[in-house]
Amino acid sequence: MKTELCDLLGIKYPIIQGGMAWVADCYLASAVSKAGGLGLIATGQMPPETLKEEIRRARELTGNNVGVNILLLHTRLDEIMQVVIDEKVPVITTGAGNPGKYMEALKEAGTKVIPVVPSVALAQRMEKLGADAIVCEGTEAGGHIGEITTMAMTPQIVDAVSVPVIAAGGIADGRGMAAALALGAKGVQIGTRFMCSTECTIDPKIKEMVLKASDRDTVVTGRSTGHPVRVLKNQLSRLIEKLDKENKAEEIEEKGTGALQRAMREGDISWGSVMSGQIAGLVKEIIPCKQIIEEIMADAENTIESLNNSSLVVK
Ligand SMILES: Cc1cc2nc3c(=O)[nH]c(=O)nc-3n(C[C@H](O)[C@H](O)[C@H](O)COP(=O)(O)O)c2cc1C
Repeated sequence: MKTELCDLLGIKYPIIQGGMAWVADCYLASAVSKAGGLGLIATGQMPPETLKEEIRRARELTGNNVGVNILLLHTRLDEIMQVVIDEKVPVITTGAGNPGKYMEALKEAGTKVIPVVPSVALAQRMEKLGADAIVCEGTEAGGHIGEITTMAMTPQIVDAVSVPVIAAGGIADGRGMAAALALGAKGVQIGTRFMCSTECTIDPKIKEMVLKASDRDTVVTGRSTGHPVRVLKNQLSRLIEKLDKENKAEEIEEKGTGALQRAMREGDISWGSVMSGQIAGLVKEIIPCKQIIEEIMADAENTIESLNNSSLVVK
């Protein structure tokens, strides 16, 4: 199954691995790209020097087909963008801001720019700025989120822009992928599922927590700060929920500082921020990225075929 996203990005399968700060390093990104999807190194607040090393290591592992996910709130954003431009990274996704200022230089370097958006208005604005595609990220997703669901937002963004739309949030198997394609997306971005891949280097305790999660185990915290984030429930999330009710935004920011790193790298399942999507309940095993991708593709094709055969329609 090939879509125009495959041609745009030079990939075999229309599957993008979500940029995930403190999770998506060169090893995960390389494994996804090698398996035929698009792997991305997530910058989070990574120093530019580290990003350069990560890109070079990924290149040694795969050739030049790993992208970078850039947090536009990065405190050293100019330097991060310069690394991307100097290294001629083939594609970036961007979150939390407006990449407009860098668009011309990125295009000149041959870098495709794919902003992640939570609404139709932002998708249209990004298309006007010259985005090559749009990731439409629904509120089901892990990490920082908007308000609209993938199901409701994807077809609305598909109708509103002419560049390819990539659906994200709540997709972890071929049924989800088939549904996204039915809504008009040309591909999917997947985060939570790849956390439980063999190649993902996060602490094993976090993988275990995702595997054990059920459908109701995530919660959105930090609404009072204006930066809501979906995480697995634990002691930290319960404390932040309490602080949210008391509108103690400053205290929440303080508790949140370093909490993602604490979870993903140190395995602090109680007081770390265990970002994860609602789809965690569907993730039941740790397997290599290649197997994840091939299973999703085969399952999506079967789902679409069975719909074509009308096997779901009771005659
Ligand atoms: C642990 C974690 C960290 C994330 N960090 C980022 C990030 O740094 N930048 C970003 O654009 N999105 C981030 N996301 C969102 C993912 O890129 C992706 O869009 C999302 O996980 C898709 O939804 P899913 O989790 O239901 O698959 C993160 C998600 C998770 C689970």
